[in-house]
Formats: sequence, structure tokens, C-alpha cells
Amino acid sequence: MATKLKIGLFGFGCVGYGLYEVLSKSQGIKADIVKICVKNKNKQRPIDPGYFTYDKQELLNNPDINLIVELIDDADEAYSIVKTALEKGKHVVTANKKMVANHLKELVALQEKHKVSLLYEASCCGSIPIIRTLEEYYDNELLFKVSGIFNGTSNYILTKTIQENLSYSDALKKAQELGFAETDPTNDVAGFDAKYKAVILAAHAFGLFVQPEEVFNFGIETISKSDIKYAQEKGLKIKLVPTIKKHSNGSVSVFVIPQFVSANSYLYNVENEFNGVIVEGAFSDKQFLSGKGAGGHPTGSAVLSDISALSYGYKYEYKKYHQKNNIPFNTDIILNVYLRCNKPDDFKKFGFIEIQEQYGSKDYNYVIGNLPISKLVELKEFITQEKIFVAITEKGIVEGHAITALEEKNLVTERVN
Ligand SMILES: NC(=O)c1ccc[n+]([C@@H]2O[C@H](COP(=O)([O-])OP(=O)(O)OC[C@H]3O[C@@H](n4cnc5c(N)ncnc54)[C@H](OP(=O)(O)O)[C@@H]3O)[C@@H](O)[C@H]2O)c1
Repeated sequence: MATKLKIGLFGFGCVGYGLYEVLSKSQGIKADIVKICVKNKNKQRPIDPGYFTYDKQELLNNPDINLIVELIDDADEAYSIVKTALEKGKHVVTANKKMVANHLKELVALQEKHKVSLLYEASCCGSIPIIRTLEEYYDNELLFKVSGIFNGTSNYILTKTIQENLSYSDALKKAQELGFAETDPTNDVAGFDAKYKAVILAAHAFGLFVQPEEVFNFGIETISKSDIKYAQEKGLKIKLVPTIKKHSNGSVSVFVIPQFVSANSYLYNVENEFNGVIVEGAFSDKQFLSGKGAGGHPTGSAVLSDISALSYGYKYEYKKYHQKNNIPFNTDIILNVYLRCNKPDDFKKFGFIEIQEQYGSKDYNYVIGNLPISKLVELKEFITQEKIFVAITEKGIVEGHAITALEEKNLVTERVN
């Protein structure tokens, strides 16, 4: 039997308004919006002005409101709202990936302490139902990899570079004109947004709680026409791919780096603002989920699904974490990469363990070979400054090395919980 939910909504922008529309058209859901808190007093609102307030306490202190839906674009303020709401015994639904990824462990503890539920399906890949799928459907599956395209903005830009032969900067400009990219696009194009999502999915797929700053992210900002041409000549596309990988020794690696994908990959045909998630497990083999990664209605639909689940008392149980906690976070991995530099000798700094292919000319130099991810972390500033582009090949992680090196050198970082 569903409980009637009385919603205090924070934010009435793209997703907030999307939720309002989705909620008003949905049949059977037992939830009403009581009050909406927004920021800008001068904005015209498309619905009855009586709904709105600018004082967050009106929602947080209202005893009739039993669910806070947080859909604002300010991660710090979102954290303060969500924390207070949980402490006041209210359930919370949020779409804010940065806030969730940065405070996940604390928020999980708070929901336990105050016996409420915190749901955030909309924070990862828009309309794709990935969190509850990992949590419920794959609760006992021996998963070994979750990867995909988690950021619509960078995927839109990459699509335009290939389909319309645009340069990175022209494709970015087009994305900005169409509202797919913000004025400061760093969060999307440098891989931060995808990283927050990977951090959240790592908790549900493998029970790994890791802080975003521990995870390496490298985006698409330095991609050049030569890199795109290289991919096209080989029949490949370049996608920004977050990878969450469990190794055979039980450790888990998480990173975000562009990747070459061939026509055989599920990700090859994920274009524009669409997202796609590949889940790989021992028994289910490979599954692929795709859908709209952003937008008011697609994201609103994920929020609606959380609200509906909540009305039946649903709560994430972090099943993989409770099956086996203290999962080691493994940063000692070797990647098979394509590294393009503008100065012929720059690649020497990276200490390639093995080189499989090398090309040099006056204005185009690249190396394909095996490289520890630690070198990319160490040289990230240099890579950005020199406009070097790095992408992993389809081989990705050089598996044998990672495991033996870890076991021999005992370099796995045990996580303190
Ligand atoms: N857009 C998407 O497709 C998408 C997809 C997945 C997840 N998300 C996440 O959903 C959240 C909302 O994104 P959005 O695209 O809907 O943002 P948006 O269109 O920029 O709207 C932001 C809303 O938050 C309100 N707001 C900002 N600071 C506030 C504060 N301190 N107190 C009360 N209200 C405040 C704004 O108020 P005013 O109306 O007064 O300006 C506005 O209504 C973000 O966390 C985003 O990462 C978005």
C-alpha cells in the first residue's frame, strides 16, 4: 500500500519544471507538491505563484512535508538542504551527482541514523535506470565492469567532431548555442561530471566508496583534428568513457579517460546527448542500457520513479557493500593508450613500459603503448599545458600486469571505513 507523499521541491529549472510536468501527467502516483523553493525573485514562473517561496525553512520546517526533492544547481547549498532534511526525518530525492558523490558516505550514514530514505537515480545518466538495476537486479551477480557514456554534453561535442567534421572548439560553440553545454563547460568536457557518476555507481556495483578527488579524470578538451582523423582512418570513434573495473584480486579501479571504440562496441552508436551503460558480469555476460542522459522530462522521469519507489518504502541497501566491505581501491594499473603530443620528444617523459606503435612528423606525433595510470596523474598539468591528447585503446587495462604488480608489491590501498 503506497504512502501519500507531500513534497517540498527545491529548484524549478530544467529538471524541477520537468518533474512538475511529468508528475502532473502521471497516473496513480500518490504524491503532491506542497511548496517550491527557488532563488531568483524576479523570474516569471509558469505556474501558480502561490506555490513559490524563497525561504528554505518554509519547506524544511513544514511538518506536513515528508519528502524533499532537491533539484537545484548549487552543490554546496544542495548538501546543506539534503543534510538538514535527513536530520529532520524527511525522505530525500536528489539529482545532484556532484553533491552525492562528494558526501555519499556521510549521507548514507545519516539516512540510516534518521531512518529515512535517500534516493538519487536521476543523478546518473538521466533516464537510464542504472542505480536501482545495480542495487536490485544485480544484487547477487558477480559483476566485473561497469562502463559507458555518462555525459551527454561531451558526447554531443564528440559526435559533431566526427559527423560534421567540426573542430573541438566549433563543436563546443554549437553545443553552447543549443544549450547542451554551459558557458564554463569544464565540468562536462574535463570529465568531472562523468567521474561523479562513476563514483556513485562504484558504490552500487561493487560496494566501493571512493572520494571523487581520488579518481583520475581526463577529458576531451585537448582533442585535435589529427586525433579525430586517426580514429576515422581506423574506423573508430572517440568517446569519453568512465570505467569501473573489478580485478580478479577483488580490488576495484575507477577512472575517466577518452577511449577509442570500434563498430563492435555498444558505445559506437551512442551519439549526441544520449548516454549508454554497459554492465558486465560473470553470469549475465554483457548488458547494455541506453537512453537520454539529460533534459527536463527524461531526468524528471527518473525523479518520478524514485518518488514512486519511496511511496512504497523503498530504500537503497548498498547490498554489495554489505556483502563485502573494505573493497581495495586500486590505482596501480597499466593502461594501453594512444598519446599524441605536439613536440616529438614529449612522450619520453611518460615512461612507456612497452611501445607498440609510434609515428612522428613535423606536426603530428603519437605513441601507442602501455603506461601506468600514475604517470598520467603525475603529468596531468603538463598534458593540459602542452595540449597533449590521451585516449585508451580498446584493450584498455593491461590486466595481467595490474594484478601481478599489485600482489608482488602489495600496492593495493586498503580502504578505511
Ligand atoms: N539539466 C539536466 O538535464 C540534468 C540531468 C541530470 C541531473 N541534473 C541535475 O539536476 C539539478 C538541477 O539541474 P537543472 O538543469 O534543472 O538546473 P537549472 O535549470 O539551472 O535550475 C536550477 C534551479 O535551482 C534553483 N536554485 C538555485 N540555487 C538555489 C537555492 N539556493 N535555493 C533554491 N533554489 C535554488 C534555481 O532557482 P531560480 O529558478 O530562482 O533561478 C532554479 O530553479 C542539478 O544538480 C543537475 O546537476 C540535471
